[in-house]
Amino acid sequence: MADTLYDIRLSNDPAHYETGAAIMAATDPWITLEMGLDRCHGAFDGPDKEKYFAFDGTNIAGFAVIQTAGSFRGYIQILCAAPEYRGRGVGTALLQFCEQRIHQFSPNVFICVSSFNTAAQQLYFRYGFEKVGLLKDFVRTGYDELLLRKTIGSWNHFLVKNFKF
Ligand SMILES: CC(C)(COP(=O)(O)OP(=O)(O)OC[C@H]1O[C@@H](n2cnc3c(N)ncnc32)[C@H](O)[C@@H]1OP(=O)(O)O)[C@@H](O)C(=O)NCCC(=O)NCCS
Repeated sequence: MADTLYDIRLSNDPAHYETGAAIMAATDPWITLEMGLDRCHGAFDGPDKEKYFAFDGTNIAGFAVIQTAGSFRGYIQILCAAPEYRGRGVGTALLQFCEQRIHQFSPNVFICVSSFNTAAQQLYFRYGFEKVGLLKDFVRTGYDELLLRKTIGSWNHFLVKNFKF
């Protein structure tokens, strides 16, 4: 449960990305996946992404990157809490925020989680995600990613309900 109210904001600030990449590079799953600082930094680059940071005062408590284009739009590419904030609700707060934002343009929320990251899997399954695929050797050979989806229905239903076509 959250013990703090987090201020979640869209960020285009490179300094925030640097902090986020450093947090990722120093923690699992990215250590085991051998992502390294440069590739963690790359997660913030590229078109059609929105980067949200959760602040506790001036501290970055966590962050999320979502992809907003393509058939699989609504993919949460990154979800991470700063080490000192883990277990304090920021991951759940970011998930809720991302889900609300994604449902403005897609009925589906997607996320990947490493097969060895059982703690994060516990959170995601409890949150309502279902496993829809297994991506073998996806990031690092010998390590699989579970593809998870949480949906509010088909694309046809979503488009008729929200955009009247
Ligand atoms: C996974 C993560 C984003 C969850 O955010 P969080 O703020 O710690 O989670 P919350 O406080 O909202 O929810 C707590 C639940 O998250 C899960 N969890 C996963 N990793 C955790 C961790 N390191 N510490 C505490 N809870 C964790 C547990 O299921 C926990 O439930 P419990 O308290 O009943 O055991 C965060 O722990 C994290 O950044 N971990 C390292 C990076 C990572 O694994 N990112 C996800 C990649 S797919």
